[in-house]
Amino acid sequence: MPSAAASEKGSEPSSPKARFRFRCIGCGSVTELAAQDFRCAQCGNLVEIADPAWKSGFDPAALKSVWRDRRASDKQLDRSGVWRFRELLPAPESEQHLVTLREGNTPLYELPLASSSLGIPRLFAKHQGLNPTGSFKDTGMTVAATFARQAGFRWVACASTGNTSASMAAYAARGGMRSLVLVPDGKISWSKLSQALDYGALTLQLRTDFDGCLQLLQELVRRAPIYQLNSINPFRLEGQKTLAFELMEQLDWHPPGHIIVPGGNLGNSSAIGKALLEMRDLSLIPRLPKLSVIQAEGANALVRTLREAGGKHLVSVQAETRATAIRIGNPASWEKAVHVLQATGGACEQVSEFEIAQAKAEIGAEGIGCEPASAVTLAGLKKLLQQGFVKREESVVLILTGNLLKDPDFTMDFHRGSLLEGSNTNAKNFELKPFRHPPVVLDATLDAVIKALEQAEKSHRTRSDA
Ligand code: F0G
Repeated sequence: MPSAAASEKGSEPSSPKARFRFRCIGCGSVTELAAQDFRCAQCGNLVEIADPAWKSGFDPAALKSVWRDRRASDKQLDRSGVWRFRELLPAPESEQHLVTLREGNTPLYELPLASSSLGIPRLFAKHQGLNPTGSFKDTGMTVAATFARQAGFRWVACASTGNTSASMAAYAARGGMRSLVLVPDGKISWSKLSQALDYGALTLQLRTDFDGCLQLLQELVRRAPIYQLNSINPFRLEGQKTLAFELMEQLDWHPPGHIIVPGGNLGNSSAIGKALLEMRDLSLIPRLPKLSVIQAEGANALVRTLREAGGKHLVSVQAETRATAIRIGNPASWEKAVHVLQATGGACEQVSEFEIAQAKAEIGAEGIGCEPASAVTLAGLKKLLQQGFVKREESVVLILTGNLLKDPDFTMDFHRGSLLEGSNTNAKNFELKPFRHPPVVLDATLDAVIKALEQAEKSHRTRSDA
């Protein structure tokens, strides 16, 4: 879409038309249409969206100015923190198909407590948990749901560890489509499940894990006219790219040294990486930040794929972690993630259940909070600092993917001290005591409340003096 380039500062680029193609990430073959399972007919690998024309025609300064100006606009398309960046997204045929809940436009916070305890002056958190359904999934869902609606699908479906299903169900409801959710029975948080129920999804709790749900979905979409909204769907990843566009805008287009993101099915890291490479190619940023992916030790397929197979084939695992959002052993987008890690020079690390719990409490202490899967980023940063991969003078952005309220059971178990019971980290459990703030049940008397206040003050002072 070269003609879409804005020639004058602040002027509106002309409306882009659908010029994108599907390109296989394996053999590189390019097609106009994608199969229902978004896999290449030649080699079976996943496809991504490519726009062969846009690269040549954009003026970076004009684009930045148009995107900034749209923040003050009242138009539906501009109010969305995703469609605001529409020049770098696939364009629907008409605005009528648009399904949006005003996603994106999330804050970039400083983390003063973690900053000072780790000795990194420039540490930030981009909080994608402040999206409409409480997770980063919404930025991808607005694009994929729009294209599902445009294609006239009656049903959309996903396999999920919870957040995708909540997001898909909401966007399907807004777009007048039915939604089918496949989730592992007993392994997702009630808050996420309850969102899908309220938004009217047909919710099936299958007696398997996430990987089993996803496999079944792949078979289902080959048999029934159902549109798949997992992150295998390349439109999802296009929307999720906007996290990176928005982040660079918030940093005044000065890339940080490092971006650190949790890894599950590996769609998000792939999307952020694709966005970084596109911004570099369009001269929107002068250099690439290093994009690093952190996994839970019990769900470390990418870590093992890189360490044991040099990134050449997937080493899948039987996943187990209390960070249920990333309880995934057979990540679909592993090849895309390997590519972006190599292209940006990022690292891949794993963190323990203990480290996740502690990091989550530390992010909570900053007054912003997040769900357990997001906390792997801070836990991972500590490791990357110890290894010398991240230098203290570099700036670091952690991507917080989900809201604190997404998994209240984890938080309650943590504060009551039962989270790590029975695990092999139980012995270290006492180290988490200073972070715990369990609720106290008391008689309803003034004396009892004053006594509790005095005790809290005393133990706070003892801790500060220690
Ligand atoms: N953080 C949260 C809160 C998530 O919900 C997920 C994935 C991830 C991180 C990992 O992102 O899969 O792109 O590498 N949740 C999916 C779901 C799988 O079904 O909600 P990823």
